[in-house]
Amino acid sequence: MSLTAPFGVYVHWPFCLSKCPYCDFNSHVRHGGIDEARFLRGYKTEIAAVAARVPNQTVSSVFFGGGTPSLMQPSLVREIIACISTHWAVAADAEITLEANPTSVEATRFRGFRAAGVNRVSLGVQALDDGALKELGRLHTAQEALDAIAVARSTFDRYSFDLIYARPRQTPEAWAAELRRAIAEAAEHLSLYQLTIEPNTPFFGLHQAGRLPVPNDDLARDLYDLTQAICCEAGLPAYEISNHARPGAECRHNLVYWRGHDYAGIGPGAHGRLTINKTRFATETEKRPEVWLARVEESGTGLTVEDKLTSSETGDEYLLMGLRLAEGIDPARYSAISGRTLNPRRISILRDEGAVETTADGRLRVTQSGFPLLDAVVADLAA
Ligand SMILES: C[S@@+](CC[C@H](N)C(=O)[O-])C[C@H]1O[C@@H](n2cnc3c(N)ncnc32)[C@H](O)[C@@H]1O
Ligand code: SF4
Repeated sequence: MSLTAPFGVYVHWPFCLSKCPYCDFNSHVRHGGIDEARFLRGYKTEIAAVAARVPNQTVSSVFFGGGTPSLMQPSLVREIIACISTHWAVAADAEITLEANPTSVEATRFRGFRAAGVNRVSLGVQALDDGALKELGRLHTAQEALDAIAVARSTFDRYSFDLIYARPRQTPEAWAAELRRAIAEAAEHLSLYQLTIEPNTPFFGLHQAGRLPVPNDDLARDLYDLTQAICCEAGLPAYEISNHARPGAECRHNLVYWRGHDYAGIGPGAHGRLTINKTRFATETEKRPEVWLARVEESGTGLTVEDKLTSSETGDEYLLMGLRLAEGIDPARYSAISGRTLNPRRISILRDEGAVETTADGRLRVTQSGFPLLDAVVADLAA
C-alpha cells in the first residue's frame, strides 16, 4: 500500500439505453448513436487539463460511473486508463471499477473490460424479482442479472452489485427472502439503497398522485433494521450507510469521498475535489454531454464550477461524508481542517440520546440507531 494520500479519478459516462423512472443521475438516451472517438478525445483533453493543475499525484482508484459505462467499448475504457497513466502515476494496486448494467449484451464485454485494466465491476441489479424490475423500468430480468453476476464472478476478482429496497408494496418478508438470495450470490460487497423519490422523475409524479405505494417511515425503518441484521449475520456489515462489505473489501474509491480525500471529476457532470497550493476546490463540469464536449473542444475543459472551499466548508464536508461511515470521523482531523472544535455539549446530548458514540481510539461515530437520523445528527454537530 502506498503511503501517500489516496487520490481518485472519477470518469462519468452519461449515456443509458433507456431512462429509469426513479433516476435523477446525469444520464441521457441517444437513439442516433454516440461518437465515441470524439468523446474519447474530450476525455483525454479534460484529463490533461486536470493533471496540469494537480500534477504529481499517485492515483489509488479510478471509477467509471454513469449513466451506463458498460455501454462503452472496452477499447475506449482502455484508452482512458492509458491516458490517466500517462499524466499521473497509477499505484500498482489501484482499484479500477466500472459500473455495469446486468444485461446479457453487457456481460459479453466483461472480458474486454478486464483486458482494458478494470479489476472490479459494480452491477446495477436493483431487484431479483421480475415484477419489481419491470416497475423500476429496468431492461433486464432477474435471471439475466444472476447470469451477469456469474460472468462477473468468473471474470473479476472483485465484484459488487446494487439493490434498491423500500420499493412499492415491498413487505419485510419478501425483502428478507430477496436479500438472502442476493447474499448467496454476493462475494465481498453489496450496495443496498432505499428507494428515494427524486423530484423531476416520473416516480415523483406518480408519488404525488398517490399512485406509488412506497413504505411509510415506520416500514422503511423496519426494512432498514432488517437489512442491517441480515447483512451482519452474513458477515457483510455496513461500512457506510448503504454499503456493505467483508472487512477489507470496502470500495476504496468511494472511501476517497467519504474520508475527505481529493479526486478528479472527468466527463459531463462530474464533480471533483482538488487541493491546489493548499487551497481546496470543489469542481463541477457541464452536465449536458454534447455541450460539455463542445466546451472541452473549444477551451480544453468542461469546467463550469471551481469554487474555493473555506476551511469551515471543508470541515462541514468532512463531517457530512465521514459520519456516513461506520468508522466515523477523527475529531482531531476535523479540528485541523476546520479550525474549530466539535461542541462537547452537543456531542454529550447526542450520546445520551444514543445517536453517537466515541470509540476507544477517540473517533466519533453514529450508532446503528442513529443512522436513520444521520442528517439531523450532522446538522446538529455542524451548527
Ligand atoms: C446511477 S446508477 C448507475 C448504475 C447503472 N446505470 C444502473 O442503473 O445499474 C447507480 C445506482 O444508484 C442507485 N439509484 C439510482 N437512483 C436511485 C433512487 N432514486 N433510489 C435509490 N437508489 C437509486 C441504483 O441502485 C443504481 O445502481
Ligand atoms: S438507474 Fe442507471 S440505467 Fe437507469 S437511467 Fe439511471 S443511470 Fe441509467
